[in-house]
Amino acid sequence: MQVLGLETSCDETGVALYDTERGIVAQALHSQIDLHAVYGGVVPEIASRDHIRRLLPLVQQVLQEAGIERPDALAYTAGPGLVGALMVAGGLANGLAMAWHCPVIPVHHMEGHLLAVMLEDDPPAYPFLALLVSGGHSMLVSVGALGDYRVLGTTLDDAVGEAFDKTAKLLGLDYPGGPALAQLAASGTEDAYQFPRPMLHKKGLDFSFSGLKTAVMLEVRKANALGNLESVRADIAASFQRAAIDTLVAKTLRAAKSEELERVVVAGGVGANQLLRSVLAAQFSGQVYYPRADLCTDNGAMIALAGAMRLADGCKADNIQATARWSLETLARPQT
Ligand code: KG4
Ligand code: ZN
Repeated sequence: MQVLGLETSCDETGVALYDTERGIVAQALHSQIDLHAVYGGVVPEIASRDHIRRLLPLVQQVLQEAGIERPDALAYTAGPGLVGALMVAGGLANGLAMAWHCPVIPVHHMEGHLLAVMLEDDPPAYPFLALLVSGGHSMLVSVGALGDYRVLGTTLDDAVGEAFDKTAKLLGLDYPGGPALAQLAASGTEDAYQFPRPMLHKKGLDFSFSGLKTAVMLEVRKANALGNLESVRADIAASFQRAAIDTLVAKTLRAAKSEELERVVVAGGVGANQLLRSVLAAQFSGQVYYPRADLCTDNGAMIALAGAMRLADGCKADNIQATARWSLETLARPQT
């Protein structure tokens, strides 16, 4: 069974062909980062228009690379995300499915991130804890099986990737700031500033990063007033990164302990952060699983895989679905 996955929920156009026997056969990705960088963040209308330009040529490229004319099924990200952007993959997937007489499966973007690790050679067994950390989401999810998702904690304000991006912007780094901030932090001292570790003193597993962001903003203002921002930028970046990562790791350990889970899956763009990986490895006694770097960030392969897994359970749809806000917990558990 070959499933073509389409991802257009935000600022990446991703297409991949996944074969249930052979794994990823071909994939292509176009990032819109350059288009949005001048605005310092994603502009929804520009995102939708660029997906329209890119998606069909990428589909043709992937099919050609795979040496096939059509897949057995189509899967597309149906939400959560920017509605105009979601409509691009939703519209094309449904149109192609009608022309090719094949099933089409709407996929939850976060389920895609959560399952991406199953594309690796040594995937985790269920149950596991998932730490999903991207530009739009920070979540801890208890995963019992496909479709058995319990959200243990989520962000009350900014997602952690957003906090990285906003902090990076304050420090004069280009969008998306996460990787650039991590690079700048490498030459700084992480205990130069004592930034708050948000929500650690509170019970529960929710995140909040606005207090940390404000603390950084005050230090940046102070440095600007003193005219020494250039000399303290790396220290601010390193101290911010350490505070954000300490928070993620502490909540992850807390969740794993309370749920008695020995496996943790980290996914989403911030999962590429090296400090997160090293601190988690040092502090968690169980096993940590990551998708490879290009499957941590948005991609078509995770959508194709999730679609294939859902199709195996008989899931398909007959109209275009585009849902801006969509709880992971409302997804169906497989019948089988
Ligand atoms: O999963 P993703 O590609 O897109 C969303 O679904 O949001 O995540 C993108 C986010 C951005 O906020 C980016 O700054 C952040 O992931 N990111 C990082 C790193 N690489 C990407 N944040 C911290 N450290 C990194 N190395
Ligand atoms: Zn994502």
